[in-house]
Amino acid sequence: MEIEGQLNAEERRLLMEAVERLKPETVLEVGTYLGGGSTIHLLKALHRCDCGRLWGVEADQSIYEKMIQNIRQAAPDAYGHFEPLFGFSQNVIPEWLKDHPQVQLVFLDGGNNPQEQITEFCLLEAHIPVGGELFSHDVKLRKGKWLRPYMEHLDNWKTTFYDISDEGLFHGRKIAERPTPASRSAAKRCLLKLKLQPAELAARVLPHKVRAGVLRILPSKISRRLSDGR
Ligand SMILES: C[S@@+](CC[C@H](N)C(=O)[O-])C[C@H]1O[C@@H](n2cnc3c(N)ncnc32)[C@H](O)[C@@H]1O
Repeated sequence: MEIEGQLNAEERRLLMEAVERLKPETVLEVGTYLGGGSTIHLLKALHRCDCGRLWGVEADQSIYEKMIQNIRQAAPDAYGHFEPLFGFSQNVIPEWLKDHPQVQLVFLDGGNNPQEQITEFCLLEAHIPVGGELFSHDVKLRKGKWLRPYMEHLDNWKTTFYDISDEGLFHGRKIAERPTPASRSAAKRCLLKLKLQPAELAARVLPHKVRAGVLRILPSKISRRLSDGR
């Protein structure tokens, strides 16, 4: 049974290789969608290594329920490694961390607001041990445009950008417990600049109805670039 999912074959392979390399005890993913992309591939890799569990966070109730069914049917053996979590990452992660203080592998692929990946990273970074790894998707779109430059400024992460799809995959390996204060300040300055870009400011201050109206009257190419950065 083929489940609907995102990420191309190369991106799925990179996630699976990370599982094989790290043999993680704990993996956290934000944004499972229907399960056929990152989720089932992470699970199959865990099953093959006979190690660890994947906690998959999904915020849409109907997608969440369908995703559980899909994985149960398509990968019954690997399902034993799966712990689905329903809700928004911003609410779920702080609660989850109370019982799981260390996470060796993280994959961020949730909502379209670029602040979400930043929030998720800030919640998780202290809980990823040195040697642990993080991937994020949609680096070339609005959703992922802040995390890459932010992490590239932090000198306790070794980062790689994989320009292998229309969306792009970003990878970081933690190489020291903490960044130097100077690199943390540089990362914060860089993030502030990104937040002050006119399109992002407008997205934050304009009411939803006004934003939707503006996007409707613009040519579709421009409105798409503004809304999801394509
Ligand atoms: C791009 S899709 C994920 C694709 C999936 N990783 C794959 O490989 O097929 C994004 C998913 O994240 C969910 N989502 C959006 N915002 C979220 C959030 N804050 N927390 C958890 N899930 C979220 C959406 O409902 C959607 O199913």
